[in-house]
Amino acid sequence: MSEEPFDFVRYFTRVHKTPFWHQMQAGMASFAGVKAGMKVLDVGCGPGRLVNHLWGGNVTAVGLDGNFRMLERARIEFGKRPFLVGSAEHLPFSANQFDATLAGNVLFFLPDPHRVLQEMVRVTRSGGVVTIWNPSEAMSQAAAAEYAARHADEMDSFSQKHIVNWAGIAEANRRWDPDTLAEMFLQAGLVEFQSKTTLDGLARYARGRKP
Ligand SMILES: C[S@@+](CC[C@H](N)C(=O)[O-])C[C@H]1O[C@@H](n2cnc3c(N)ncnc32)[C@H](O)[C@@H]1O
Repeated sequence: MSEEPFDFVRYFTRVHKTPFWHQMQAGMASFAGVKAGMKVLDVGCGPGRLVNHLWGGNVTAVGLDGNFRMLERARIEFGKRPFLVGSAEHLPFSANQFDATLAGNVLFFLPDPHRVLQEMVRVTRSGGVVTIWNPSEAMSQAAAAEYAARHADEMDSFSQKHIVNWAGIAEANRRWDPDTLAEMFLQAGLVEFQSKTTLDGLARYARGRKP
């Protein structure tokens, strides 16, 4: 019997419905200081749950993703919200548009994260904030499996498998410590760097302000 091919859009739509993932996405927006009335860009928004969540708090949020099938899904889930197909490396916005620019779990696997960070800075207004969320230096498949076992009461079996899959992708790409992130943010022209972990230390938020 042949197995069904892996469908990333379907997989991530399921990920977005899990409480632990949504808490981390919402946590990134809180860490960024996003508030009602702000204009916010979510780079690599996937199936769009964070964008919808932000609108629920009276934030004008726009989701951008490079995968048009992902955005078809976002529109089915959250049809009223603005979603745009585009590349994180060449954001289709003029400079100084957003109060906060966010990217959750995107930069750590891209070939040129520095380029994307520069683009995020470009489209953010002076005084605005750039915030990312990625696996931390402590992430590994073993650590993720331990996390899933420790939190088995709060995580369904899909969430438990997902966190280990995600750790595998982190191991094959990047797991950033705060010093490396601080250097990246400095190089991108950001000031007031701050970073903090979530997920018992396995994931890391990082933010900086555009002067
Ligand atoms: C791991 S998912 C994360 C989705 C969402 N931000 C989250 O935290 O759940 C990464 C997303 O980035 C998108 N993506 C990957 N490379 C991209 C690029 N170069 N430009 C724009 N989007 C990209 C993918 O299509 C996918 O939806």
